[in-house]
Amino acid sequence: MGRRKLVAGNWKMNGMKSHLAEIEAIGRIAAERPVVEVGICVPATLIMAAAERKGGAFIGAQDCHMNASGAHTGCLSADMLAEAGAEYIIVGHSERREAQGESDADVAAKALAAKAAGLKVILCVGESLDVRDAGNAEAVVCDQLLASLPQGAAADWLAIAYEPIWAIGTGRIPTMEAVASMHAALRAALASRIGAHEADAMRILYGGSMSGDNAAELMAIPDVDGGLVGGASLTAAKFGPVIAAA
Ligand code: G3H
Repeated sequence: MGRRKLVAGNWKMNGMKSHLAEIEAIGRIAAERPVVEVGICVPATLIMAAAERKGGAFIGAQDCHMNASGAHTGCLSADMLAEAGAEYIIVGHSERREAQGESDADVAAKALAAKAAGLKVILCVGESLDVRDAGNAEAVVCDQLLASLPQGAAADWLAIAYEPIWAIGTGRIPTMEAVASMHAALRAALASRIGAHEADAMRILYGGSMSGDNAAELMAIPDVDGGLVGGASLTAAKFGPVIAAA
């Protein structure tokens, strides 16, 4: 055990230069709470400026191309993002799996590209409401995790984020029992692939309507090692209580 909590904001397609003051304020909060690893995954346009104002936080990106370079109009390589100042990257977010049609194999390839560029990776998995209602969420999400897991997955560069799709941006979250059960199932699935020692060291975050109101209870669950936070990460006033709860 002894996993350091990781709390990462995902600003999604939000944030202009006028929001850099929030980065500074979050960076100050992070510096005051070094027991928690805190970061913000910003739009690529903000990475360079945010990296200059990050304080005790890290700056991350939200996606990369799986190739290092080439004829991929409009795309960014992991090397480019790292050079801009990103230290982490999110791969496999459900919004990209759904809207951009990213497959599990794409997600694994992107994770490996990010690792090759020296980035740390947050790999997202999660079930739809139909799957949850059908009662087989754990099997589906564990299968998705194992299919998306890159070769050489290890706790020093990879974290998992469990994000039930129906909880994202809705204000709804699963029961604490359901979160605990899913995280335990994911850790067991990891152990089956990378061994119990590495699985025990790997952080599994919860994401989906995490806020200052529920973060303490969620992060008190033994297998919940932090959060991937959308809406509640957009301002220091909202993100601060989440960081404080970790
Ligand atoms: O990446 C973050 C998640 O999609 C959660 O977003 O906190 O706005 O529900 P949310």
